[in-house]
Amino acid sequence: MNTRSIDTTRLQRIARAYSETAVFYAALDLEVFTHIAHGVDTEPALAEAMGASALNTERLLTVLRAMGLVEHRDGRYANAPDAARYLVKGAPAYAAPWMTFTRGDVPGWFRLGEILRDSTPPSTLGMYADLTVESARAYHAATYSIGMGAGKRFCREVDLGGRKRLLDLGGGSGAYSINAVTRYPGLRAVVLDLPPVVEVTREYLLANGVADRVDTLAGDFTTTPLPTDCDVAVMASNLPIYNAETIRRVVRRVFDALPPGGEFHLVGEMLHADGNGPLDAALWGMYEAVCGSAGRAHSVSECRDYFADAGFGAISDAVFVAGTLHRVTGVKPA
Ligand SMILES: C[S@@+](CC[C@H](N)C(=O)[O-])C[C@H]1O[C@@H](n2cnc3c(N)ncnc32)[C@H](O)[C@@H]1O
Repeated sequence: MNTRSIDTTRLQRIARAYSETAVFYAALDLEVFTHIAHGVDTEPALAEAMGASALNTERLLTVLRAMGLVEHRDGRYANAPDAARYLVKGAPAYAAPWMTFTRGDVPGWFRLGEILRDSTPPSTLGMYADLTVESARAYHAATYSIGMGAGKRFCREVDLGGRKRLLDLGGGSGAYSINAVTRYPGLRAVVLDLPPVVEVTREYLLANGVADRVDTLAGDFTTTPLPTDCDVAVMASNLPIYNAETIRRVVRRVFDALPPGGEFHLVGEMLHADGNGPLDAALWGMYEAVCGSAGRAHSVSECRDYFADAGFGAISDAVFVAGTLHRVTGVKPA
């Protein structure tokens, strides 16, 4: 029998979860982690560096300590390991652009009840419908800051040795392709993304010195003919943007484009097979309501089903990033 008493603690925490986000954004705005990394590690010094009063500095640091983002010892502050790696401006893995990339959607989230009752038909491309080169550049500064780590992980986990050409669907900054051709010198790649995006992709390919081995293809992966000279394909981090019908169709299109023996990796925010979380995947599905698309959260079992339906064999799945990304893989029978 469950003897735990029921109280409102959990509900109260959920009710004010937005305040944690707001403090996080403020800490990034005031560059507190960057200051600490540069040795500005006492309260008075931080107050001066941030241009905040002593009282507000104390308030901020008190919350950041409670959130476990900074540590306090003998009057001095230190960044927690993840804050030190990802939140210090100028650090190689600086990921603040990604951390704040949905900030503009805050008003939408707070109108969610209204949005959920809105009967306006969803748009096919959701947040990507009005993309310009400029907005794609800002967006992919964010995805690049996190995608390079994911791309590296993908290339560590998936053996691309012996493969000739990678098709990177919705490749964005090209993070997966950049990592792939860097790690596998014999490999070439092609990033297929929307026309404004591939302009930006090329900038990242040039900056990483791989423009001679990674091509770009401007198009829509739901309709544009897919290259047929790729023997491996990946589609990463755009799963919830689309509904089941579209993802099923895209998986089938990839199957048709691959040669026998070719493999496809779908990396995305996926629900567990039983649909019970993880919360992050569920919330990315809800984000599509805020963006006005027809997208939703897909489960691992649904994704495996899309692969089986298309004809893929040797279907497997694995956690890619615990609590958020999962990878489903299939091989086109020889
Ligand atoms: C969240 S980003 C992920 C980028 C990259 N795969 C990564 O993981 O770093 C999603 C990308 O999918 C692209 N995308 C979405 N729908 C698309 C479509 N129908 N055709 C081509 N690209 C699409 C977007 O433009 C965007 O660049």
